[in-house]
Amino acid sequence: MEKMENKDIEVKGNDEAIVKFEGVTKTYQVGDHETKALDEVSFELKPSKFVVILGPSGAGKSTLLNMLGGLDNPTSGKIIVDGVDISGYDDNGLADYRAAKVGFVFQFYNLIPTLTVYENVALVKEISKKALDPMDMLEAVGLKDHAKKFPSKLSGGEQQRVSIARAICKNPEILLADEPTGALDSKTGQVVLKLFLDLARKHNKTIIIVTHNQNIAKMADVVIRVKSGKIHSIEEQQNPLTVDEVEW
Ligand SMILES: Nc1ncnc2c1ncn2[C@@H]1O[C@H](COP(=O)(O)OP(=O)(O)OP(=O)(O)O)[C@@H](O)[C@H]1O
Ligand SMILES: [Mg+2]
Repeated sequence: MEKMENKDIEVKGNDEAIVKFEGVTKTYQVGDHETKALDEVSFELKPSKFVVILGPSGAGKSTLLNMLGGLDNPTSGKIIVDGVDISGYDDNGLADYRAAKVGFVFQFYNLIPTLTVYENVALVKEISKKALDPMDMLEAVGLKDHAKKFPSKLSGGEQQRVSIARAICKNPEILLADEPTGALDSKTGQVVLKLFLDLARKHNKTIIIVTHNQNIAKMADVVIRVKSGKIHSIEEQQNPLTVDEVEW
């Protein structure tokens, strides 16, 4: 009897939100000017989903991702990740949260110029015990032969793939990616999307990506549209397409 109860709890746990925003507002102050990048944003996401965030430039997409990634605190509201409210964390708390929970593919790659491609990926082994093999990741994104080069010797698309390899190598529960295919040709973009989808479908990770590409939205379990700092719509797709079903 007791065992059954435990099982019930586990099943319930699976269905609980991994991410919950409750009235999140982020205001940036530049001189006298105030910008409300996020305005009372509320939504929740179930785990193991491939989530796509769409919206015009300046809508607040990167701000939303940065708050969720623990790069900064919201001005007000709660951000609850896996049952824990991170919104009031100080710098150390946020650093621990980032190390334990999230992987990040930044809009502007953020590679360390004085480290080689391999070293840029391998450095996540220092922060994550669950980290995967860096060389396997570089191979997965087609950059094994570039492992010993410095980032400045790579094209923009190649640098973007290094940052993707680094984020996946960390093997985080939640992977956040800001325009991860923006600098990639469509074939390389498809390879990367397959990696992301595998993480969600086979490895039960939650993948949240910001993109301007409507095709990527067709593969999502959930599509969030952001407009002027607010959630314009949030839509669940019961039968998302596979990478091969999308016409590129
Ligand atoms: N660090 C900052 N300081 C001041 N204002 C900022 C800062 N970051 C973002 N903003 C402002 O907040 C708003 C939302 O910006 P954000 O970068 O989240 O938009 P976005 O949807 O990611 O746009 P894009 O598609 O161009 O990347 C914009 O008006 C932007 O100018
Ligand atoms: Mg942005």
